[in-house]
Amino acid sequence: MSSDEDVAAASRQTHFIGKKENIIQDRRVVKSVGERDVLVIYHQGDFYAIDVRCYHSGGPLQEGDIEVSCCECPWHKYKITLAEGESLYQAVDPSVKPLKPTWCSKGVKQRVHTVTLSNEDVNSFLKDWSGDLRAGGMLKNSKCR
Ligand code: FES
Repeated sequence: MSSDEDVAAASRQTHFIGKKENIIQDRRVVKSVGERDVLVIYHQGDFYAIDVRCYHSGGPLQEGDIEVSCCECPWHKYKITLAEGESLYQAVDPSVKPLKPTWCSKGVKQRVHTVTLSNEDVNSFLKDWSGDLRAGGMLKNSKCR
C-alpha cells in the first residue's frame, strides 16, 4: 500500500489516543496514528487533535505554549488555532497612528483532526487532507533537503 493509501485508510478509522483522565491530567499527549504523529491537547474543557509538527518548518508543537485557543510554535512563534489549524499573526498598519497591532489570518495551514469521546476513552479520526496543497502538515518521516 502506498503512503497516500495508508493515510487515506487511517483517516477512515477511529484511533485510540488514551484514557480521558490521563490526558486531562497530562494536558497533552503525542500518539502515532497511521503515518502521522498527532498531538492531542486538553484545554479549557475541550480536546483538540493536530499534527504534532508545525506546518511552517516542522517545529515540535507538543512543546508549544497554549494561549487562549492557540498553540504557539516554540521555533518561530507562529500561532495556530487548536480547533481549525488557522495560522494567525499580528500586523500593523503604519498609516494609522498610534500604531496598533491587529490579528490577521494566513488561513488554515495546520492539519487538525476530529476528537471523539467514548466512555473514558479519547479517540481521533484523522481528517483526509489529500489533495489540499495548503495542508502542509509534515509526515513524520519527512526530511529536509
Ligand atoms: S516551525 Fe513552527 S513557526 Fe516555524
